[in-house]
Amino acid sequence: MTVANSPIGLFDSGVGGLTVASAIRSALPSEKMIYFGDTAHLPYGDKSKETIINYSIGITKFLLEKGCKVILIACNSASANAFLEVQEFAGDRALVMNVIDPVIDYVSREIETKNIGVIGTKATINSGTYQNGITKLNPSIEVSSLATPLLVPMIEEGFIFDDISNAIVRSYLSRKELQDIDSLILGCTHYPIIKNQISRFFNFNVNVIDSAKIVAEKLRDELMQKQLLRTDKASGHEFYVSDHTDYFEIIARMFFGEKIDLNKVSLKEEN
Ligand code: DGL
Repeated sequence: MTVANSPIGLFDSGVGGLTVASAIRSALPSEKMIYFGDTAHLPYGDKSKETIINYSIGITKFLLEKGCKVILIACNSASANAFLEVQEFAGDRALVMNVIDPVIDYVSREIETKNIGVIGTKATINSGTYQNGITKLNPSIEVSSLATPLLVPMIEEGFIFDDISNAIVRSYLSRKELQDIDSLILGCTHYPIIKNQISRFFNFNVNVIDSAKIVAEKLRDELMQKQLLRTDKASGHEFYVSDHTDYFEIIARMFFGEKIDLNKVSLKEEN
């Protein structure tokens, strides 16, 4: 098998990265994906940098052993805290991408915004990755960040499109940090699952930016540029989790749009 015909590996702490996987399937229909949801360690957003690095390297090792040509960190918390370490670990064995840099490029260069909000996990927001990246590329944009840590467990537990999730979303989005924004970055790959609820809170007056399509297009450009686009049509994607959770399959089917056969694997801790 040539490198180009190898799979794309991607990982997240749970179902969130499936929003990215779904966009990749649309942008790159011939590619095969191997997805890893680290449900045993969810949520990543409350963990230390060191722990997130440790989990991310363990998964990268697994995906490299599966022969992946790309390791896409489909999790903002891991992108913000472990990207350089994963890149170093993978070396020249795979192209490593994260979900934050393409969004920073997009908002800084391609859209009209004066006051942009970012919501994400504590690990993402406290890292300052979005704020620093956007300010560096376009200092005229005002960036306001807010950690919204309840949203990931809420989504993973299946509380979406109901009164509980509406109350939590409302409580976060009415905070003063987000009062004057014209655009909002969903800085967590779980959040596109509730994008409609979020847009509705703002009466559809705020440009809600979800990274999935932006990242999938960036991946397509990179593969094209490096002549790594698959030349045959792959059969079936593979899905792995580190623990079975009740809602993974249900939410996965809802947002990936097809039945997913989950394989459970236990990864050895790196350190
Ligand atoms: N989807 C992950 C992200 O983008 C969620 C992290 C978590 O598990 O807290 O940050």
